[in-house]
Amino acid sequence: MDKASLIDPFGRAVNYLRVSVTDRCNYRCVYCMAEDMTFLPKSDLLTLEELDRVCSAFVRRGVDKIRLTGGEPLVRRGIMTLIRSLGRHLQTGALRELTLTTNGSQLVKYADELVAAGVRRINVSLDTLDAEKFQQATRWGKLEEVLAGIAAAKAGGLEIKINAVALKGLNENEFDRLIEWCGEQGFDLTLIETMPVGEINLDRVDQYLPLSRVREQLAKNWTLEETDYQTGGPARYDVIRETGKRIGFITPLSHNFCESCNRVRLTCTGQLYMCLGQDDEADLRTPLRASEGDDLLLDAIDEAIGRKPKGHDFVIDRRDAQPAVARHMSVTGG
Ligand code: GTP
Ligand code: 5AD
Ligand code: SF4
Repeated sequence: MDKASLIDPFGRAVNYLRVSVTDRCNYRCVYCMAEDMTFLPKSDLLTLEELDRVCSAFVRRGVDKIRLTGGEPLVRRGIMTLIRSLGRHLQTGALRELTLTTNGSQLVKYADELVAAGVRRINVSLDTLDAEKFQQATRWGKLEEVLAGIAAAKAGGLEIKINAVALKGLNENEFDRLIEWCGEQGFDLTLIETMPVGEINLDRVDQYLPLSRVREQLAKNWTLEETDYQTGGPARYDVIRETGKRIGFITPLSHNFCESCNRVRLTCTGQLYMCLGQDDEADLRTPLRASEGDDLLLDAIDEAIGRKPKGHDFVIDRRDAQPAVARHMSVTGG
């Protein structure tokens, strides 16, 4: 049965698929990875053709927004082949949006090709505009290469949203500067609470900055006007009157938004995670490889959506120092 929409046990329609196309990354952001990471052997990965088949099965089931993530999606070899191929679903109108979340480091190379493939809007992670702090946050990153990538994406005509994870002691005094810069550049900005996902060998309590507090602080310097603007993602947005651009807040800890969850996550090895903050997953690789037709795969997708849990149990607390889930953010792509 085609075009059936995916409805979970809590009545939520799932129309947004996030696909982590690789668990690898050229950076090592402190809230995301440990410095010394063991990645999956390349032989475990779904091929680009297999990723296309799974994505297309979701499109048949009514998913109309696909976001490629990682790790860093643009370091996966041949990634443009997949993006161009998925672009066909934009042309038929089956997909409303094909996009990615990237660290920006490869955009000088890829911006124009992304536009040609039908990508209109991307999210770029950038926690700080201070070169030294940027290096502290990403360990291996260089601010200038990301800024060059962002400039190339802008020049190519991509709409850009900047993602900044709010980190105590790192960027807590820099949001005004980020807001100003995004205003000048014409970018929306989203602030994100750090989530306890994966062992990172650092104390999350020392990193966590509740955005409820940040918003109060920002409201002293900026006129924040509430909006009901929606992207299909989890942020709640205000318009900043002084810049005319939006600021979004993603607050899994201080304000849980699971009741409106519309998304699931595919890993590069074909596991489907029904929640970022839970361990339950469904193996789609076996049904994918079991036959050339998609019936088994579609059945497995339906079965998995039938197990989507109500929400996450994230806490960041000294008494509960364990991450909520052991796998790293780069496995499920955030
Ligand atoms: P838009 O399409 O622009 O709304 O993007 P998005 O927010 O859906 O995607 P992006 O990859 O930019 O994600 C920003 C942050 O939101 C990341 O840190 C994600 O981990 C987080 N995020 C996305 N979906 C969920 C979710 O269902 N639960 C939680 N807790 N966090 C999420
Ligand atoms: N908590 C919150 N956001 C995170 N990201 C990576 N790890 C974490 C974490 N532990 C963000 C990245 C990127 C997005 C996909 O997820 O900065 O913007
Ligand atoms: Fe790489 Fe993104 Fe994780 Fe940073 S947050 S290490 S850029 S996957």
